[in-house]
Amino acid sequence: MAALIAPSMLAADFLHLEDAVQTVNAYADLFHLDIMDGHFVPNISFGFPVVESIAQAAMRPLDIHLMIRHPQTYIERFCNIPGAGMLSFHLDATREDPEPILGIIGNAGVKAGIAINPDIPVEKLFPYLDLCDFVLIMSVYAGFGGQSFMEETYGRVARTKEEITRRGLATRIEVDGGVSPKNARQLIECGVDILVAGSAVFKAQNPAEVIAAMRGE
Ligand code: DX5
Ligand code: ZN
Repeated sequence: MAALIAPSMLAADFLHLEDAVQTVNAYADLFHLDIMDGHFVPNISFGFPVVESIAQAAMRPLDIHLMIRHPQTYIERFCNIPGAGMLSFHLDATREDPEPILGIIGNAGVKAGIAINPDIPVEKLFPYLDLCDFVLIMSVYAGFGGQSFMEETYGRVARTKEEITRRGLATRIEVDGGVSPKNARQLIECGVDILVAGSAVFKAQNPAEVIAAMRGE
């Protein structure tokens, strides 16, 4: 079993962003980009110009993780960025029905996902599993890089995987927050398909080695 690895650019050196992209270009499966608005989460990250610049250098699809209120307002614009491959928004970031939002993402040719923070029961995702290409189960509270992995994530992933399997769906599971070679194997065993890792990759001496170790090769 192997997982896709999505380095989170939030942990990159923003003064040398192109170097950071090049560091992982040959090893990453996806580029995870965290968009924070200062409302849905108490932090602000980066926006369109930065995403578009990363897109120019990235050789792999962009995995855009929206941590913004009213995500529907910006979804089309993000989907239209060349290289956008996956886009997720948080279930509780909008009062609107997620179904049409997932439809807009899918119609743009981008894989659609719903994200949830650790305090939201994974069962809340279940009604949407057949509409999502993937679900993003946060293993820290969204908002900041460099936090500690929450151990309850294993059980949350396993319950979600069980439901996906029971219903014969192809929905993929992504985990984000505090992911490193220490927990990657167990996450993959529980059913994770995509591992997001920021600090573990970009603060490492040898990011390529860390990516290979997490992939389960
Ligand atoms: C947190 C972000 C994560 C973060 C992961 O809100 O969604 O993607 O960048 O960073 P690490 O791997 O350092 O926890
Ligand atoms: Zn993220």
